[in-house]
Amino acid sequence: MQSNQPKDRPDPCVLVIFGASGDLTARKLIPALYELDREGRLPEELCVLGVSRTEMSDEEWRRKLRPMTQEHAREFDSEHWSWFSGRIHYQAGSATEADLYPVLAKRINELGVEHGLCTEEDVSASPWITQPNVLYYLAVSPTLLQPIVERIGQAGLVYEGKRWCAVEPDEVPWQRVIVEKPLGTDAVSAAALNAAVGRVFEEEAVYRIDHYLGKELVQNLLVMRFANTMFEPLWNNHHVDHVQVTAAESVGVGKRAANFYDNAGATRDMIQSHLLQVMALVAMEPPTSYDAVAIRREKHKALESVRLVRNEAEIWRRAAFGVYGPSNNQSDDDGGMGYRDLAGVDNAINIETYSALRLDIDNWRWAGVPFFLRSGKKMARKLTEVVIQFKQPPARIFKDVDQRPANRLVINIGPDEGVSMRFEAKVPGPEFRVESVKADFDYQYVFNAKAAEAYGPLMLDAMRGDQTQFKHRDEVATAWDIVDPYIKSKGMRSAVAEYKAGSWGPASADQLIRDGAPHRRWHNPDKGEKR
Ligand code: BG6
Repeated sequence: MQSNQPKDRPDPCVLVIFGASGDLTARKLIPALYELDREGRLPEELCVLGVSRTEMSDEEWRRKLRPMTQEHAREFDSEHWSWFSGRIHYQAGSATEADLYPVLAKRINELGVEHGLCTEEDVSASPWITQPNVLYYLAVSPTLLQPIVERIGQAGLVYEGKRWCAVEPDEVPWQRVIVEKPLGTDAVSAAALNAAVGRVFEEEAVYRIDHYLGKELVQNLLVMRFANTMFEPLWNNHHVDHVQVTAAESVGVGKRAANFYDNAGATRDMIQSHLLQVMALVAMEPPTSYDAVAIRREKHKALESVRLVRNEAEIWRRAAFGVYGPSNNQSDDDGGMGYRDLAGVDNAINIETYSALRLDIDNWRWAGVPFFLRSGKKMARKLTEVVIQFKQPPARIFKDVDQRPANRLVINIGPDEGVSMRFEAKVPGPEFRVESVKADFDYQYVFNAKAAEAYGPLMLDAMRGDQTQFKHRDEVATAWDIVDPYIKSKGMRSAVAEYKAGSWGPASADQLIRDGAPHRRWHNPDKGEKR
């Protein structure tokens, strides 16, 4: 067994969250940690140290976090909160200033002693280095990622080295980092960020989080494909007509328009990150084993096989951009306004709130099978799904089956997690009639469980040293290479068409999917329909 094998249980550590006063920390990270603690899944010694500029005591931060945890955790129990909040601490300071880091190191060591992660003797023997394991979580705005990592490095807070070749890996405290998207804004900036992180942390210590990879049904994709025998023989260009990956949201951008979304857009925000990851899991070859190295290698190979577009004519045939118009609902996130009328939006940027791309994967398995990826805000409903659209049977012996839809497998990643298979069946009775029916697996019904919030399990994985559900540097770089031409296309910017709020996106997206294959349609289930 290699020494870099993930542990069965999470290692105790100090979890240092940069961006402690931000939304992500209050809405997702702390509620997720609280839930894990309630379920007894956190190491007993684990403690959290939040860092941000606002002056606050430990107690004041806990008081701020309490109502948010109550709102966002699945269940809340005051008594348990009192116990859990004792693990939460706060350090005010500017993360871009060097002065903060000696203070931080001292605080990490003190908390290490207080929570039983290390001893006073350990600390007094080498007070200049951090003694407990430390997991840094960079929940900060993208412009701060690089400066903070550099400061951590300059302060000498990372000294672990290559854990997998250490003589006694368990004797050495580890330092790991979780970084949040966006990881760059294009291929060049992403490469610079990857390099900056790599100068401080070994790749084995970098956890590039993508909350989609923590979703149960995304993880289920591999189980479906490789723990069953019936899907894999069909999973190729002999049987599949095309694949759709959709992430539709019914909400608008609201107050985040000017500060965030105008510089992002649907292609950067959703396709470059989440949707390409889902696509890679659908398209990849079987890994040699279920571990980080094997899985990430295969995902990367799938991404590398995506044909890159090089000229405007190709881009135009392969993409559709849209922006949502006004809605009739004055009380929605945008007060009923269309994106272009929201406060602070720079209409010269012409950002897209909807993006659909056609990607071709030039390998033996998928040549000739287009993958259609789409994501949009203010769409007909919230829905994240994968659709495997099979081809028609090669010979049609039932005349009235000729015009019937071909088989379709729908994997609903959320919010109604499950899988359905559409096939044709004879309607009972003396007449010979054929109808489409669905075999449906409903995750919540079968397992009597709601899918867990993704952040908690992912943080546990980082504490166990398991990178399987995190992105490798190369995957991020290749995903940027794929989307860069679309983001930068002047033609696409000038063709951002308005779509009706609450619809399934612009008409150009329907043309995109039908181009050269009039039988193709987006799968747009009705409101009540789960998949
Ligand atoms: C985030 C995007 O990564 O994912 C947001 O930045 C988006 O714009 C969110 O709303 C969607 O996540 P989910 O889990 O609700 O599909």
